Amino acid sequence: MRPVGNTRRIVVCVNRRLSDTTPSCAGRGSEVLVNALRDVATEQGLDVEVATFSCFGRCVEGPNVRFSPGGPFFRGVTGADVEAIVSAFIDWNRAS
Ligand code: FES
Repeated sequence: MRPVGNTRRIVVCVNRRLSDTTPSCAGRGSEVLVNALRDVATEQGLDVEVATFSCFGRCVEGPNVRFSPGGPFFRGVTGADVEAIVSAFIDWNRAS
């Protein structure tokens, strides 16, 4: 039996503020990252859920991504970081 809530995920903040002048992850392109992470994970044969989240409370640093539960946090993520994040997720799972 596995404990509830222990599934490992890549979580992407996709919060979008109504004002274009207020920082938010979606306002900085995080929604595109969700599909990019899913695509790279699939290409690498990785069975991982890429989940969305409404706000980590670090909006000025976004787009923000974290590994859940309790994994590392990535700030200012761009499309150029996607492969490295998937690789880091693989390493994180191996290490713990
Ligand atoms: S909008 Fe992404 S952390 Fe707040």
